[in-house]
Amino acid sequence: MSSTPSQDSNYVRIFDTTLRDGEQSPGATMTSLEKLEVGRALARLGVDIIEAGFPAASPDDLRGVQQLAERVGQQPANGRPQSEPPVICGLARAMERDIDKTWEAVAPAAHPRIHTFIATSPIHREHKLRMSKQEVLARIREMVGYAKSKCADIEFSPEDAGRTELDFLSEAVQVAIDAGATTINIPDTVGYTTPNEFGARIAHLMAHVPNVNQAVLSVHCHNDLGLATANALAGIQAGARQAEVTINGIGERAGNTALEELVMALHTRSPLYGLTTGIDTTQIARTSKLVSATTGMAVQPNKAIVGANAFAHESGIHQDAMLKHEETYEIMRPETVGITQSSLILGKHSGRHALKNRLEELGFGLEGEDLNKIFERFKELADRKKVITNADLMAMVSTEMDETAEGYQLDAVQVASGSAGMPTATLRLRDPEGNLHTAACIGTGLVDACFKAIKEIVPAKAVLMEYTVQSVTQGIDALGEVSVRLRPDTADNGQTTDANEGRLNPQKGLGQQRVFHGHGADTDVIVAGVQAYLNALNRMMLATPHTQENP
Ligand code: KIV
Ligand code: ZN
Repeated sequence: MSSTPSQDSNYVRIFDTTLRDGEQSPGATMTSLEKLEVGRALARLGVDIIEAGFPAASPDDLRGVQQLAERVGQQPANGRPQSEPPVICGLARAMERDIDKTWEAVAPAAHPRIHTFIATSPIHREHKLRMSKQEVLARIREMVGYAKSKCADIEFSPEDAGRTELDFLSEAVQVAIDAGATTINIPDTVGYTTPNEFGARIAHLMAHVPNVNQAVLSVHCHNDLGLATANALAGIQAGARQAEVTINGIGERAGNTALEELVMALHTRSPLYGLTTGIDTTQIARTSKLVSATTGMAVQPNKAIVGANAFAHESGIHQDAMLKHEETYEIMRPETVGITQSSLILGKHSGRHALKNRLEELGFGLEGEDLNKIFERFKELADRKKVITNADLMAMVSTEMDETAEGYQLDAVQVASGSAGMPTATLRLRDPEGNLHTAACIGTGLVDACFKAIKEIVPAKAVLMEYTVQSVTQGIDALGEVSVRLRPDTADNGQTTDANEGRLNPQKGLGQQRVFHGHGADTDVIVAGVQAYLNALNRMMLATPHTQENP
């Protein structure tokens, strides 16, 4: 009989939290359509568990998780052992209301999981929870038991486990398993530990918790000291068999363990670790690109595995040796992580089928109306540009995915500038009801004039924090990509327009402002800039309808 992952002691479950911990990165907010697209890509990648969100945070978050449970959590996922749908998990604080909401969100999945947590470290107990050790233990017993009465698959996390007294941590873990937890996650919430310490923590639990063999131990490491991947690997070597990771390592503050780093370490050094995962490594590059495009979080060029330079060899000595034997300077082949130089050139004569295939290679499984829209844009661009590159397509698809979200859309823009110092922009926008609005403004530059005109039409008030332009392709006809980051303007009328008001976030708490990103791509950077600004405003209004005011 072939062994299933849960029976195989050498199988490491990959728990992806890009859509939960990853989405907590400032500005990484995704629309529900984008979350679905990322969820599908994660299933194709072969992750075992998708943590889809924090349903108690807001009705929107609950719906987002539910949508994942219905549309990804019921489909066989290619590349997974036995092609089972991934487990769909939602995060809940250890309280009945959160657990109820989480169950409502994940229940439609074929394999639902509730992940509940409470802090255990002295600093959190004393200052955040104001609870004694005994009170924390009682809450764990009660809430894990409550969650178990709804769902068979329960994960429990003692938050800030990295700074919790080892004896108390062992006790908390024992109580959680006793109350029905089947996975115990050990988070280094603040990224404080070192690999030796973290590995020793897992080893201690393996040796001292009497019922530890009734649950899978999991590692969840943050990257504040740049040690997230090293710590997670040390925990796995000590006996953990689930790793909590995010694509490109995005997450709170300095981020989480990067899926691609952990998986490729286990893969490349498999004689050392002797462990396997269900990940189809050839899907890594495209999933990374998709997450970067949908979150607006660029991948640093020297990022391990997925950075633009990760497989680039510049020095003459290296190039010469590589030509003689690839392994002189390369420990992994780019193809193993799905980096291919597709030889098929896309241009104005390419058809829908060629476009669909290329989009699939890039991680976008578009069909029907969505594919038609992209095909139209592709043809428009191909009339202006001879060769359409992968970067052009990525930029185009991510902009189109945003356009499908409800919100204000650019209908037309006309700008004029010259030596007289009166850069002018005239803008026509379509509101969500389909009505057209026109405004004309003079600014310090063309971008300023455009943004002023947008402000005259769109009722949301925002402060621009960052504006960057880059060329995504080479050449005179290059596609320009603009990224903006903004936050709600609270100064305007003295009233709070706090984007987090009414939205609970387990890490950030109430009242912190969220940052929203937006991007746009066009051969004309002014058009791209307007698209990017509108895109960010639309995201902000979707997340915080009360930031809208009548003009
Ligand atoms: O870092 C952390 O402690 C978390 C928990 C909620 C698992 O993300
Ligand atoms: Zn975390």
